[in-house]
Amino acid sequence: MARYYAACTLGLEEVLATELRDVGAGDVAVRRGACEFEGDLALGYRACLWLRSAVRVQQELARGPARDREELYALVQTVDWSQSITHLQTLAVDGSVRDSWANDTRFPVLVTKDAICDQFRAANGQRPSVERDRPDLPVKLVLLNDHAIVYRELGGEPLHKRGYRQIQHKSPLNEATAAGLLLLSDWDRRGPLVDPCCGSATFLVEAAWIATDRAPGLGRSFAFERWRDVDLDAWRTIYDDAEARAAAGARHLPPLAGNDRHPGALAIARKALAAAELSDKVRLSHGDARDWAAPFRPDVVVANPPYGERLHDNPERLAENWRAIGDFLHGSGGKLAYVLCGDPDLARWLRLRSSRKHPVRNGPIECRWLRYELD
Ligand SMILES: C[S@@+](CC[C@H](N)C(=O)[O-])C[C@H]1O[C@@H](n2cnc3c(N)ncnc32)[C@H](O)[C@@H]1O
Repeated sequence: MARYYAACTLGLEEVLATELRDVGAGDVAVRRGACEFEGDLALGYRACLWLRSAVRVQQELARGPARDREELYALVQTVDWSQSITHLQTLAVDGSVRDSWANDTRFPVLVTKDAICDQFRAANGQRPSVERDRPDLPVKLVLLNDHAIVYRELGGEPLHKRGYRQIQHKSPLNEATAAGLLLLSDWDRRGPLVDPCCGSATFLVEAAWIATDRAPGLGRSFAFERWRDVDLDAWRTIYDDAEARAAAGARHLPPLAGNDRHPGALAIARKALAAAELSDKVRLSHGDARDWAAPFRPDVVVANPPYGERLHDNPERLAENWRAIGDFLHGSGGKLAYVLCGDPDLARWLRLRSSRKHPVRNGPIECRWLRYELD
């Protein structure tokens, strides 16, 4: 049995907990911006491949008091690191430190790295090298109140990097946040869904993959695949099953469409849809949301209009954007709308009364996922 920690956007913890139970996790404990759970190695693989709302999955390797350098060093050395990598592979150590003897992460991270490398050197005179980009073994140290937890991170690249977004939109929505918000909504995964200001089409790709039962991690690699103790048979079975589910689910794609008034955003959206194998399946159009007639009557409208902090729009222009999105919502014929809002003053320009306000963090911005009943 292994102990795991999966991190998510603040506000999506319950969505993540549900996803974890769906992939077979036992004993799921909800934490702030995370869930802890237990299971075997295969569960870790399934979590990486299937969790839509998680950004990271870590396996705990050691925990204990670490009141000074010596205790931390000794704790890190209790782990048999040769189970993860050989001296020919690479590692990187990241850390977070709070209320402990060290003032910042640098020294404890160095101690951790030295303890790992010294163990290899003692065994055969050679040690793995440090590689910041795409290390074979990403190690995470958490030092809190002089107590340390040492993890290995299964994904390597964060899980929200699905591989379909090669170019960044100016203010994109994190893929895991977008998926988590869709899972939080009352969209039934079959009904038509539209986004009147879709930017790089994150909601649309995530909605398509949810509806068609396509695992978000298909087609990308994970750090655990390069570990010595990887159970390749178990991983192959899990991956093959996910491919079969995606093939079977492809026929369940609901009508999806998006619009944006920015041609550059739409160019990025088209590239993302192509990379996600959805080019001819999701309709995109160019123009102001106010003038957009969606190609079908939506059940659900989702939107992430600009709220200033990052796009640096002037307030009148922002209000005008929200008014335009409001015009679209009033005429859309949809049943439900969900709007991600980082500034309550702007939401009033929609001229609708929200029936739910779910707090969620979008990067540094405290937002609300607002729900509106349209009919
Ligand atoms: C915060 S971004 C959306 C990002 C998107 N969720 C993504 O993941 O890429 C807001 C988008 O709203 C679009 N927008 C703002 N006002 C609009 C309007 N009146 N009509 C259509 N699009 C609009 C902008 O061009 C921008 O792409």
